[in-house]
Amino acid sequence: MAWNAADYAANSAVQQTWARELIAQLHLRGDEHILDVGCGDGKVTAEIAWAVPRGSVAGVDASAPMIEFARQTFPRGKVPNLEFQVMDAREIKAANFSSPSPPQKEERAGVRRLVVSNTNLLSRPSATLSPLGRGEGVDSAPGRVSSCVQIQPDEKFDIVFSNAALHWVDDHRAFLRGAASVLRSGGRLIVSCGGKGNAHDVFLVLRPEMRLKRWREFFRRTEKPYFLYSPADYEKWLPRFGFKTHSVRLSPKDAVYEGRAGFAAWLRSTWLPYTQRVPENLREEFIGVVTDRYVAKHPPDADGRVHVRMMRLEIDAVKV
Ligand SMILES: C[S@@+](CC[C@H](N)C(=O)[O-])C[C@H]1O[C@@H](n2cnc3c(N)ncnc32)[C@H](O)[C@@H]1O
Repeated sequence: MAWNAADYAANSAVQQTWARELIAQLHLRGDEHILDVGCGDGKVTAEIAWAVPRGSVAGVDASAPMIEFARQTFPRGKVPNLEFQVMDAREIKAANFSSPSPPQKEERAGVRRLVVSNTNLLSRPSATLSPLGRGEGVDSAPGRVSSCVQIQPDEKFDIVFSNAALHWVDDHRAFLRGAASVLRSGGRLIVSCGGKGNAHDVFLVLRPEMRLKRWREFFRRTEKPYFLYSPADYEKWLPRFGFKTHSVRLSPKDAVYEGRAGFAAWLRSTWLPYTQRVPENLREEFIGVVTDRYVAKHPPDADGRVHVRMMRLEIDAVKV
């Protein structure tokens, strides 16, 4: 599945609104070290970074094009306390944030940093992220990492944040295990993702269209693309991975799109497990007919806006 990061960036105002609601719940002081899981195009991650000028933010995502786009849009020159890294939500662990080279400890400005050089940090010739601070230019030789800061067992994130991403992840327990391993004791897990019943009305128009002769061959073998859980699942899992639950709930949300075109752009930019099964030369037609079906059943409001009933699973927990 190939994300088009620019298309997502241009058509994700709804997700950004939800992210802002989630950020508001954090009541940030400004010095926290935060991990954003499934950060996508990075605009939400950058907003978090601006809210913690004395802290740092790491955005991770499984999609290399998303991370590339995020790095280009928010380079260190623009947002110095922000780093992006390709990483699967099921494989979060401190070791994945660090370099294989033995670090050299350095003490500066009261912040303990571990500085390494000449390391291959994933595919990126620059610094890794840090929950504690970041290095800057101790070694600027071409082809070498200028400096990097690593997570050590006693240097963990204060917050693990994730918006509109985890419903793409099949193994939420693996995510929780990883999140717990990189959070400090007392650190906070705050998540909003699609939950049980999410976008039900869209599935109701999508499925009959997929069964039509024109499209059927493209949907013969369908794997489950989204993983929509309920509070009961998380109430069971959170304590197993060392979390104390503050709240886990399903929250109904009204997603609003600018007319038919806005709804179609949302389908094109995020319903990839369906739209990308259809060959490119037929894709716009497929998106168009699904949109027509939806709008016929759910006509736009007086201002021409199309509404979709969404169901978000919201998790707020603390690492014990
Ligand atoms: C709808 S976007 C959300 C992006 C961003 N969090 C936001 O609020 O706009 C979903 C993101 O989840 C990412 N994603 C899907 N599966 C993932 C996984 N297993 N690990 C990490 N990221 C994943 C996708 O690559 C995509 O960038």
